[in-house]
Amino acid sequence: MSNEQQVRIYNPSEEMVKNAAVSGMDGYRALCKEAEDDYEGFWGRRAKELLDWKEPFTQVLDESNAPFFKWFADGKLNVSYNCLDRNVNNGLGDKVALIFEADNGDVTKVTYKDLLARVSKFANALRGMGVKKGDRVVIYLPMSIEGVVAMQACARVGATHSIVFGGFSAQALRDRIEDAGAVALITSDGQHRGGKALPLKPIADEALSLGGCDTIKNVVVVKRTGGDCNIVAGRDVWFHDACEGQSEVCEPEWVEAEHPLFILYTSGSTGKPKGVQHSSGGYLLQAVLSMKYSFDIKLDDIFWCTADIGWVTGHTFISYGPLACGATEIVFEGVPTYPDAGRFWKMIQDHKVTIFYTAPTAIRSLIKAADNNPAVHPTKYDLSSLRLLGSVGEPINPAAWQWYYDNVGGGRCPIVDTFWQTETGAHVITPMPGATPMVPGSCTLPFPGIQAAVVDETGTEVPWGQGGILVIKRPWPSMIRTIWGDPERFKKSYYPEDFKGKLYLAGDGAIRDVETGYFTITGRIDDVLNVSGHRMGTMEIESALVAHEKVAEAAVVGRPDDVTGEAIVAFVVLKGPRPTGDEAAAVIKELQNWVGHEIGPIAKPKDIRFGENLPKTRSGKIMRRLLRQLAKGEDVTQDTSTLENPHILEQLKG
Ligand code: WTA
Repeated sequence: MSNEQQVRIYNPSEEMVKNAAVSGMDGYRALCKEAEDDYEGFWGRRAKELLDWKEPFTQVLDESNAPFFKWFADGKLNVSYNCLDRNVNNGLGDKVALIFEADNGDVTKVTYKDLLARVSKFANALRGMGVKKGDRVVIYLPMSIEGVVAMQACARVGATHSIVFGGFSAQALRDRIEDAGAVALITSDGQHRGGKALPLKPIADEALSLGGCDTIKNVVVVKRTGGDCNIVAGRDVWFHDACEGQSEVCEPEWVEAEHPLFILYTSGSTGKPKGVQHSSGGYLLQAVLSMKYSFDIKLDDIFWCTADIGWVTGHTFISYGPLACGATEIVFEGVPTYPDAGRFWKMIQDHKVTIFYTAPTAIRSLIKAADNNPAVHPTKYDLSSLRLLGSVGEPINPAAWQWYYDNVGGGRCPIVDTFWQTETGAHVITPMPGATPMVPGSCTLPFPGIQAAVVDETGTEVPWGQGGILVIKRPWPSMIRTIWGDPERFKKSYYPEDFKGKLYLAGDGAIRDVETGYFTITGRIDDVLNVSGHRMGTMEIESALVAHEKVAEAAVVGRPDDVTGEAIVAFVVLKGPRPTGDEAAAVIKELQNWVGHEIGPIAKPKDIRFGENLPKTRSGKIMRRLLRQLAKGEDVTQDTSTLENPHILEQLKG
C-alpha cells in the first residue's frame, strides 16, 4: 500500500464509532488484548453470553489431539433452537425473519414464529423418514425459503447437511452424495433464474442413476416451477406432502458442541473436492460474533447477503448468523441482472436494506452495466437506508471499492472487506465498521481473537512490507474440524509438517503494510482459482477435460479478468491432430460444454488453446508459470532452453 502513489484512508463516521459494537480503535485493541491475555476466557465468555446451552460446557479448548481441536466439547446445544426458539421465546415471534423475493419480484415474508413452525414440521417429517442424529442429508436446492428451512430442520434433528450448489452438475452431485454417504436428498423440481425456469430434479435423477448413491433412501422434492416432474414411487416425496399434517412442535436433538453441523465441499489444489466439516457450537458462536462485530447487527437492521446458500457465505450469513441474532434478512432467488442490472439497487430501495454484503465480481459487473445504461446506475435509486456495506470472496480492487463506496454507500457507509474461507467458518481478517480506518483493497486487521500472521516457508514471521504466506497461529472456535472421511488430508492440507504442524495454512499469500500492519491478500498460493468468487481447483478441471474422449492432455491456469477476478484458461493436447479455424472453434465449444456437464457451468474454461504438446521440463513437469504468462498474453521471459519443442509456444499463444 505505502508504495502506491496516494493511499486514501477512510475513517469511520463519529456516529458509527459511537454506536457500533466495537467502538473506536481503543475498543478494538481492548478486545484483542483481552484475547491475547486470556485466550480461552475470551472465547468462553462469549460462548456463554451469545449462545443458549442445554448443558453448559466446563472446558473451552481441548488441544490434546492437535490439530483436531475441540471447543466447548462437553457442552450441549441445538443450533436451530438458538436460531429460532430463543428468538420466539424472547418476544421476537412476530418479527419478520425472512423476506423472500422471488425471481419474478413476488415477495413473501416469514416471521420467526412461522419459520419455527415450518422448520419443526419438516424436522418431524425427516424424523418420520428415519433421519436421525449423525445422518448426512444432501441439499440440492435453489435460493428459497425451503432451502433455509431444510438446513435448519437438519440442524434440529442433529443430521449433518451438505449443500450442493444448484449450478453443479449431476456428476458433481453424485460425487458429493457418495463421499458423504447421505441417507436423504432434498431438491426441487426446478428453479427460476433470470426469467427462465430451469430444471433441477432431472439432474438429481441423473446423479442418483450414476451409481454410488445407494445410501439415499428418501428424496424430498420442493415444488417450485411446476409442470411435469418425475416422482419415483417409494423413494420420492413432495416437500409439501411430507410436511402435511406434521406437528408444529418438534423437540430439538441436543447435540455436543463438536457435533458436525455441516459438511461443505470445496476445491483444493489436488484431487477431488474436500468435505470441510464444521462443528455446531464453535461455528455458531463465530457466525454470531461476525454478525455483531463486523456487521454491527442491530435489531432494526435489514440485512442482505447476496450469496447462494450453496457456498459458505450463504451458510454463515443467511442460514445461521442472521437468524441466531434475531435479524430480518433478505433471501433472493434471482440474478442481479434481471429484469435489469438495477435489480440489487431496486431491492435495497424497496426493502430499505441497511446492511448489504456482496462480492467484488458482482460490483464489477454492475459497474460495467451502469456505464452502459445510466438508468441502472445506483445513484438513480434511493439507497439512503444503507448504513454498512460488505465485500467477500476475492480481493476487491481499489477502483471497485471506490465506486461501491461512492455510488452505493453514498460516501457514508463503511465497507467491511471481509477475508475468510470455507474452512474458517467466519470472518478472520476484516475492518470493524466503527473502529478501523479503511484503506481500499486491504482487508485491514484480524478479527478480535484471531491471530493471523505472514510467514516464510519455514514458518518464521516475515517483516511488514515483505510478502509471504498467510497463517493463523492459534485454533479458533469456527475452524474446520477435519476433512470428512480423510483426517490425514486435513493435517497435510492445513497443518503441514513445514510448519511443524503448528500453524494453520490458509492457502493465500499476504503482505502487511509497513506502517499500519494492515493485511492485503495477494491471492492463492496453491492451484486453486477464484472465478467470480467461486473456488475451482485446476486439477478438477484438468481431470474433467482429460475424461473427454478426444483429449490426451490438459493444463489449466488462471488469468486476471476485469470482471470475474480470474478467468479459466485451458491448454489442451488432443489425441488427433491439432485443430485450427472452424474445427478448433467447434472442439472448443464441445469441451466447454463437456466441462459444464462434468462439473457445472461455473467451471467452463473461458479460453481453450490447442498445442501438439505442452511445455515441459526435461523431467516431464508442465511449466505452469510459463503457461500463466502465455495465458495473460505476455511475452515469455522464462528460460525455455530446456523445452524440447519451443515451437509449441507459438501454438499456445492464443
Ligand atoms: C478468497 C469465501 C481477498 C481467498 C468466504 C480465500 C478473499 C478464498 C476475500 C476462500 C477477501 C475470500 N479478500 N480474498 N475479502 N475473501 N477471499 O472458501 O483466496 O469460497 O482463500 O470462502 O477466497 O473462498 P471460499
